[in-house]
Amino acid sequence: MPNIAWDPSMTTGVDSLDDQHRQLISWLNDLLAAMSMGRGRAELAGLLDQLGSYTVTHFGKEEVCMAKNNCPVASQNVAAHKDFIVTFTSFREEFDRDGATAHLVVRIETELMRWLTSHIKRTDAQLAHCVRPA
Ligand SMILES: [Fe+2]
Ligand SMILES: [Fe+2]
Repeated sequence: MPNIAWDPSMTTGVDSLDDQHRQLISWLNDLLAAMSMGRGRAELAGLLDQLGSYTVTHFGKEEVCMAKNNCPVASQNVAAHKDFIVTFTSFREEFDRDGATAHLVVRIETELMRWLTSHIKRTDAQLAHCVRPA
């Protein structure tokens, strides 16, 4: 089971956003572990909901922060978040339809884990170059 971990290349220069990224990574690892262990549908649905709603809250906070700091990748970040929400919604629909199949676990590992780590490193971390000290 591949696990992902927060690392310093993900630093955004904003402690609260870094903490949110750590939380997202931790819950994503928990979700994949729970799916692999064959946990019950209600528990998995709860983990998916928790991850999804926290992600949306995080996206909102990060978008405000990028806009406030005139970050050059602000609009690119918003577009990436929108795409992600579409993908996440498709995971949720697949789960509701078929449950935690091996196919869904592989999709979450490849599409969600890979997207999250590369998005944080390539886009969110750009904030570190434009954020003003509080
Ligand atoms: Fe982002
Ligand atoms: Fe982020």
